[in-house]
Amino acid sequence: MKMVVLGGPGAGKGTQLMRIAKKLNMVHISTGDIFRENISKDTELGKLANTYISKGNLVPDSVTCDMVADRLKKKDCETGYALDGFPRTIEQAKFLDKYLSDKNEELDAVIDIEVDDSLIIERLCGRRICPDCGASFHIKYTIPKKDGICDQCGGKLIQRQDDKVETIKSRLEVYHRQTEPLKDFYKESGKLIIIDGNGSADDVEQRILNSLGVVE
Ligand code: AP5
Ligand code: MG
Repeated sequence: MKMVVLGGPGAGKGTQLMRIAKKLNMVHISTGDIFRENISKDTELGKLANTYISKGNLVPDSVTCDMVADRLKKKDCETGYALDGFPRTIEQAKFLDKYLSDKNEELDAVIDIEVDDSLIIERLCGRRICPDCGASFHIKYTIPKKDGICDQCGGKLIQRQDDKVETIKSRLEVYHRQTEPLKDFYKESGKLIIIDGNGSADDVEQRILNSLGVVE
């Protein structure tokens, strides 16, 4: 299965894909995670990406599309993949369409997780992430069993540098202006599935699996 997951910052894209990607035999590819990995390794890509990410802006399309194309060429993508946070502009969506059609392939589903802006701020301010495995926690909603320690791999949890209120507000503005128009883009292809992202992570997961016709 090849899937795109859309949704604003903090909508729960990462949380849900950590749960469902393996079940559906897909590799979870988050462009944000790849950028953060490059930032922590201080690569040239990381240095460039950081100048945009720290302000809540998007990394330029050409840089992002090249990075995704490189990732999709890897062998583990052959069985299927879920793209988290890509595409984020019409330009990127057109690039992905062309990339797939050149290989005679197409997306199976585009999931859009929708959450109210007011809840997003609360979710992101309280988020803690594991820099080692990418797992996401919340100081109120998804509390790790051991304070400050990742349940999955034992890594030390940190707060993302772009999870400050001012940066969250910029990310939300960028989302509404540049990424939300993708809903109409994918509606035309008949692949768009809108998921209510409010409620517990379990409930949202069940909504996604139901919408895909997955029986557990
Ligand atoms: P990215 O890392 O993709 O950030 P984002 O889109 O802003 O989304 P987040 O990762 O913040 O949220 P999420 O939807 O994954 O939510 P999560 O599951 O963690 O991108 C970062 C930056 O990189 C961008 O701003 C941009 O600069 C750059 N970038 C990335 N891709 C790009 C692209 N294609 N083009 C250009 N630039 C790009 O959940 C959030 C919190 O809520 C967590 O604490 C979680 O535990 C909690 N939570 C989740 N679900 C629930 C629930 N149902 N109930 C209660 N709590 C919940
Ligand atoms: Mg994420």
